[in-house]
Amino acid sequence: MAAPETKKRVYIKTYGCQMNVYDSERMTDALAADGYAPTDRMDEADLVLLNTCHIREKAAEKVYSELGRIRVMKEEAARSGRSVTVGVTGCVAQAEGAEIARRAPVVDLVVGPQSYQHLPRLLGEVAAGRRAVETEFAIEEKFAALPKATRSQTRSRGVTAFLTIQEGCDKFCTFCVVPYTRGAEVSRPVAAILDEARRLADAGVRELTLLGQNVNAWHGTGEDGRAWGLGELLFRIAEIPGLDRLRYTTSHPRDMDDALIAAHRDLPALMPYLHLPVQSGSDRILAAMNRKHKAADYIRLVERIRAARPDIALSSDFIVGFPGESEADFEATLRLIEEVGYGSAFSFKYSARPGTPAALKDGAVEEAVMAERLSRLQALVDAQSEAFNRAAVGKVMDVLFEKPGRGPGQLMGRSPWLQPVAVEAPPERIGTIGRVAIDALVTHTLVGTLVDMPAGPRPALMAHSAETAP
Ligand code: SAH
Ligand code: SF4
Ligand code: F3S
Repeated sequence: MAAPETKKRVYIKTYGCQMNVYDSERMTDALAADGYAPTDRMDEADLVLLNTCHIREKAAEKVYSELGRIRVMKEEAARSGRSVTVGVTGCVAQAEGAEIARRAPVVDLVVGPQSYQHLPRLLGEVAAGRRAVETEFAIEEKFAALPKATRSQTRSRGVTAFLTIQEGCDKFCTFCVVPYTRGAEVSRPVAAILDEARRLADAGVRELTLLGQNVNAWHGTGEDGRAWGLGELLFRIAEIPGLDRLRYTTSHPRDMDDALIAAHRDLPALMPYLHLPVQSGSDRILAAMNRKHKAADYIRLVERIRAARPDIALSSDFIVGFPGESEADFEATLRLIEEVGYGSAFSFKYSARPGTPAALKDGAVEEAVMAERLSRLQALVDAQSEAFNRAAVGKVMDVLFEKPGRGPGQLMGRSPWLQPVAVEAPPERIGTIGRVAIDALVTHTLVGTLVDMPAGPRPALMAHSAETAP
């Protein structure tokens, strides 16, 4: 029998960090249980959700310009007798609440990140003609209350998956909205995490990235009754058959404990790539940011991590133009970057966020100065990243094949260091790990040859026998 034509469709547009990507999937699952099928076409959706980010002014402003376009679309739909419900979720919803609907009357629904389990009820309110706004930090754990994905939903999402294990942040860096939009730090219980990880593995997931705004602050009671940190949790998750690769993000330098560093040494499934944001290399600015560590502490930490896992690639976030940042402060950041040597990094101009302590500070850095510093910093990071990727050429490494590539007969995969790798390989290799000889670097993508084909190694392998990391 054909599916009933009445099935409603939901379109979710996701902004911001991976935790929003994860949340959008959970909302999709919750709405599926409520009769909504996902669509990737906004113009055919009955429900449009914008899952938003408030981290910088630009991110928040994007939402309002999108809402302008959605208003036109909703009016067109109304003329053809179709009603469209429009919702704003995520961190802008939390930060601005009912103000969003005042500024953009097209919005029917505003739901903060801790309230997604209430979506079906809130949609009921909208259907009854009311505008629904919910930005409570619920007492119950939202992930426990949300319906679980079915096996086929999970399967359709591919061989890599995110799993949020921790939400919120208690660090209160003075520039950052996250402690306000996501609330206090909450760790999910071990049993719930293991259950979800097993389901993902059963559905064919090979690589799991554990998520949290402060993921390495995760803590819980282990199955052995002892207090566990992220290190212990990673060891336990690695026992689940099928999960060949583990990653986690984002970490705060102050929460890298010995057990976690030991996991980088002793746990083969833990990939040699770590996003460890430092924000600045100036102690004066780090103190003003309330990061609670000095540049030298970070460098020492990096040394300890590299002693445990010498081939680890590091990445970071940097903010340029924090209030009061002088040329000397900025140069300290460049020096730190030179000293650490990054595989990649993200960098941003400081953006004053309403309600954060830094927004009240004097010493705003001029826009032109920020732009100039950002481009100098990015030039340095780009050179490091290019050298890091270039060093992979000539090496043989494991690649997890994730999806078809752009060229015919090509697959795209990732190296242990998270580098994209394009390889000619049959589609049935998706979801498997293959040995790949890296032949070239084309812009930011490594191009390689599969060398574990049944026919045996190609002669070229002889020239690529190095096992080491780039
Ligand atoms: N929890 C993570 C960061 C989450 S936000 C951590 O502690 O590192 C991601 C990045 O956005 C931050 O690392 C920071 O570099 C940047 N960011 C946050 N607030 C910002 C602001 N007000 N202006 C510019 N960049 C900001
Ligand atoms: Fe924001 Fe700092 Fe918390 Fe990261 S640690 S989420 S930058 S407050
Ligand atoms: Fe943005 Fe919220 Fe993530 S502000 S970065 S979506 S936690």
